[in-house]
Amino acid sequence: MTTDACRPTLDLLPYAPAGRRSSMTCHYRCATSCAQPVPNRTENAYFGDIVRSAVSRRGVLAGLVGLGVAGAAVAQPTRASASAFGDDVNLLADPFDPGHSVDFEVIAPVPADVDSFDVPAGWTWAPLISWGDPILPGAPDFDFENQTAEAQLGQFGYNNDYTTIVPMQDPNRALLVCNNEYTNEELMFRDWTGAENATDEQLLISLAAHGMSVVELRRANEDSPWAYVRGSEFNRRITPMTQMEFTGPAAGAKALRTSADPSGRKPIGTFANCAGGTTPWGTVLSGEENFNGYFFTSEEPGGEGPGESDRYGVTGSSGRAWERIEERFSYAAEPNESNRFGWVVEVDPSDPTSTPRKHTAMGRMKHEGATISIAADGRAVSYMGDDERFEYLYKFISKRTYREGDREHNMRLLEDGDLYVAVFEGDGIEDERYDGRGRWVQLTRDGRSLVPGMSVDEVLINARAAGDAVGATKMDRPEDVERNPVNGRVYLACTNNTQRGTLGKAGVDEANPRPLNKDGHVVEIVEARDDAAATEFFWNLVLVCGDPEDQSTYFGGFDPAQVSPISCPDNVAFDSTGNLWISTDGNTLGTNDGLYEVVVDGPNRGQVRQFASVPAGAEACGPVIAEDGRTVFLAVQHPGEIDTATIDAPASTFPYDGTGQPRPSVCQIYRA
Ligand code: FEO
Ligand code: CA
Ligand code: CA
Ligand code: CA
Repeated sequence: MTTDACRPTLDLLPYAPAGRRSSMTCHYRCATSCAQPVPNRTENAYFGDIVRSAVSRRGVLAGLVGLGVAGAAVAQPTRASASAFGDDVNLLADPFDPGHSVDFEVIAPVPADVDSFDVPAGWTWAPLISWGDPILPGAPDFDFENQTAEAQLGQFGYNNDYTTIVPMQDPNRALLVCNNEYTNEELMFRDWTGAENATDEQLLISLAAHGMSVVELRRANEDSPWAYVRGSEFNRRITPMTQMEFTGPAAGAKALRTSADPSGRKPIGTFANCAGGTTPWGTVLSGEENFNGYFFTSEEPGGEGPGESDRYGVTGSSGRAWERIEERFSYAAEPNESNRFGWVVEVDPSDPTSTPRKHTAMGRMKHEGATISIAADGRAVSYMGDDERFEYLYKFISKRTYREGDREHNMRLLEDGDLYVAVFEGDGIEDERYDGRGRWVQLTRDGRSLVPGMSVDEVLINARAAGDAVGATKMDRPEDVERNPVNGRVYLACTNNTQRGTLGKAGVDEANPRPLNKDGHVVEIVEARDDAAATEFFWNLVLVCGDPEDQSTYFGGFDPAQVSPISCPDNVAFDSTGNLWISTDGNTLGTNDGLYEVVVDGPNRGQVRQFASVPAGAEACGPVIAEDGRTVFLAVQHPGEIDTATIDAPASTFPYDGTGQPRPSVCQIYRA
């Protein structure tokens, strides 16, 4: 998340959200970055003026009529077409109809801030694990009124974003791995009056509730729901205090050295872990996202801090006060510490003693996540969004190739490889489609920089500046991006960007065609030759989200009257037949966030069907659709995160467990 959620207003609050995202979200998760300048102030070109003027002439100024040809679909790379990328990209209707591997009746949207969790008729849900549930041996039961840092270190963390289920050999055992992205102290502590007044114990609890959780799951048989195993030998908490190591070309770089770690190779901890990915070799990747908001920098003119030139927003006072607990969170004390965050972290959940690794070859940004695809020649490709307004889409291609069954070898694939950034080029809208070609511009090769004037350390640690230098395309908050294992196409959720086209900011382009984009869109990418390692691609917008009655929306050619409204796409997943599943964060349509199935192939391409609706103030995260279509895992992040909410008058009591307080929880939704 970043911040489009909020914008300066004349309210009594110094900032207030647009739509329904609360200013609490802004404060806790993104350090109110929308009240601060957009970090990308470069003027690199978007793409042709022709396209821009065409879009503005025909679409934007005229109210942005939803473009696209009903029933049209892009070529099918994996299943069929050898001409997925040629001189003429042939957009033939695709006869393949995947059907619905998850059998459900669409649910109606739930009005905003109604505190209920809704699933389809014939389905039921249960929390699998909630904030504070004891996971490590000896950890105490959750006690909202008497929480301690020691207890929290053995308990499930707060705010669960990325969620994955790593299978074990026994089909009735699995490992749940979850990012605990951030904390909502106002909902955690009865006497909370701001970090400046927090006790040390409260700050330590907050630290301990960040990071990741690994938890073993078991079920009696394949028809039973899952339960987590308290005290399993696999259970683990990874926190901002966990010892990690850097790999790759920038490991040991000067800018990564601190007084506690003069080697520049042994970073401590992870936090702001947003989305992620699960590798074919069974490890989990976690994206460090809004790390900037955790470092204290003086706001005084000439004060300590990287200053206005910083491309990562490490400016302004941290709202967290972690510098009171550990000096490294003060920029003045440790100016390089913030460089040690913003990476992709790889965790081996099968070994609770393993050291998590931060892979510098994959670049430093506000990583939403990282998802792996294996290229035609066996190299591992990772797609990565940098979630902030006007930031870029990246991919990493490993040097070595994936070897089936050779885990030790595969575990090192992400240590060595090349980083690329995307340039989208539209072909104009005369074809009545938002589409065109694109290039992956190479930033590094064999551990060396390809960006003039920048060393490889600079390219990797300041990847945003490298993207600026090569004219990467400024996207509307590129979040989760993942390759569909059935049709081979890549789906990128652009959550929103209400500053698109505003004074002094980038205007619209064909890949980000809507000014003041409050509802976001989904980009579909077809790699050349259907190869994840390609350096060229074809793209089109499969969804332009929002109220279907809004003429600027587009649902892949499907009849807008027949779709569920969807707003602010964030996380993407796929079911076993290749339908796209999207969870949302920040719905602006007057309804709660939710989980949606989107058909991307065949005659129903663009059909959006709502499957679940999350409680008041919550964001839907980390969907996992079980192979057999009978269970859906969904993380409910920050339930009750609404400005007026207090401990005494909570906006949500999800998961309705009798504590009377909201508890972020990973849920399983299954057939009744
Ligand atoms: Fe943590 Fe990009 O949302
Ligand atoms: Ca999000
Ligand atoms: Ca076009
Ligand atoms: Ca996200």
